[in-house]
Amino acid sequence: MNGRFITLEGPEGAGKTLQAQRLVAALEGRGHRARLTREPGGTGLGEQIRAIVLARGADDAFISARADALLFNAARAQLVAEVIGPALAAGDVVICARFADSTLAYQGYGAGLPLDELRAIAAVATGGLVPDLTVLLDVSPEVGLARKPEDARNRFEATFDVDFHRRVRDGFLELARQEPERWRVVGAERDADGVFEDVLAAASAIL
Ligand code: TYD
Repeated sequence: MNGRFITLEGPEGAGKTLQAQRLVAALEGRGHRARLTREPGGTGLGEQIRAIVLARGADDAFISARADALLFNAARAQLVAEVIGPALAAGDVVICARFADSTLAYQGYGAGLPLDELRAIAAVATGGLVPDLTVLLDVSPEVGLARKPEDARNRFEATFDVDFHRRVRDGFLELARQEPERWRVVGAERDADGVFEDVLAAASAIL
């Protein structure tokens, strides 16, 4: 693989989508071939899985944490096979909003599944692909969730309590502490321009 793989991670309302779009535009402006994608989704199959896992169903539509972990990883396997792997092989810079670390944060730290099991599932899904750089857009649940209007909230935002989202945030920070050579933590409670300066600097440093 000759390309570079950059992921953006973070809790709800951190601004990953906007920052990922701006990063791709900036890198293209500098002459890189940059490819934007996201999880869950990014492929036909992945978008169908996205609809299932993010839908706010009735109470009897409960999805277990283990089923969540497998569904997110099924979408991930398809994304690696169809989009990320070929783009990296072609030498592109791939920017992905969320990747395997989201499963560790949400289904691991948030929902309590063992991290080693989740790492094993992700290794199967990705064939062992690990990002060259992961930028954590760090925001508290109070600030992040307040950025989402009630009717725009997905299942995680609408039905998991604030303690769950606090564990997710702390989980991301712990993952970043454990692997400081891969992660950069960027405070995302500021205005988007300030956040973007730091995101671009982090990406520039590895390109
Ligand atoms: P995201 O795409 O960030 O949401 P939106 O477009 O609504 O802002 O949301 C995906 C949701 O799925 C988010 O709540 C986190 C959750 N998620 C997991 O629980 N595990 C995972 O592995 C992934 C990729 C996402």
